[in-house]
Amino acid sequence: MKADMRIAVLGATGMVGSRVTAEAGARGHRVLALSRTPAGGDGHVTPVPVDAYDTTAVHQALAEAGADAVVLAVRTYPVDRDFLLGATRAVLDAAARTGSRVLVVGGAGALRSPADPGLLVADDPAYVPAELRPVATAGVAQLRTCQAHPHPDWVYLSPPALLEPGARTARYRRGTDTLLTAADGRSWISAEDLAVAVLDELEDPGTDRHITVVHGVS
Ligand SMILES: NC(=O)c1ccc[n+]([C@@H]2O[C@H](COP(=O)([O-])OP(=O)(O)OC[C@H]3O[C@@H](n4cnc5c(N)ncnc54)[C@H](OP(=O)(O)O)[C@@H]3O)[C@@H](O)[C@H]2O)c1
Repeated sequence: MKADMRIAVLGATGMVGSRVTAEAGARGHRVLALSRTPAGGDGHVTPVPVDAYDTTAVHQALAEAGADAVVLAVRTYPVDRDFLLGATRAVLDAAARTGSRVLVVGGAGALRSPADPGLLVADDPAYVPAELRPVATAGVAQLRTCQAHPHPDWVYLSPPALLEPGARTARYRRGTDTLLTAADGRSWISAEDLAVAVLDELEDPGTDRHITVVHGVS
């Protein structure tokens, strides 16, 4: 287990990024909190303004950060696929230079459907209605971007179908590339518990490139 890491979080003001930042800070890691409008900052957290549309700025910020790990958790409304893939490539390029591990918080759409392992969740109307397909397929393309990149040290974390702010229970179950369902029959986790899983994975990396988590116990 790795203690006292330097962790850069890109998208640190978001639902996921803010919880990852808080969880990392609470565990005593030093956090570089990157976004366009970074907030706050304390002994463990340093806000760093960066616009990920500017890939040169991303390179510069991550080179200066000298982080052990980079967590990518950006999102746009509506989904901007080119931005998402460009930011993912820029983070992987920068991490290859600094030798940092990359953890991408991506989408559930990239997982296999539990009913049909040959079908991705993004292509399964039981999980993804037509209006959400562009977001879901952008997440699949983000995973493919990671798989095509020469930097070997990345992991893509697909949340379950439902990811919302909630309680930190630290009770979650981990899987690989198939959507998981909790004991109550729903595929869900709180953003707080997802952050616990992110930090667990960074501190004690597994060998799987594509992982997922769900609320509950293993
Ligand atoms: N069930 C699921 O599959 C599911 C559910 C929810 C989320 N997710 C995924 O989880 C990840 C995080 O989502 P979220 O809900 O936490 O998103 P969010 O709350 O909308 O936050 C997005 C973050 O991205 C940052 N950002 C956006 N554009 C940026 C830019 N040009 N430069 C730098 N930072 C930028 C925002 O900060 P600023 O605006 O300050 O720049 C913010 O910190 C995404 O990949 C999302 O798809 C998956």
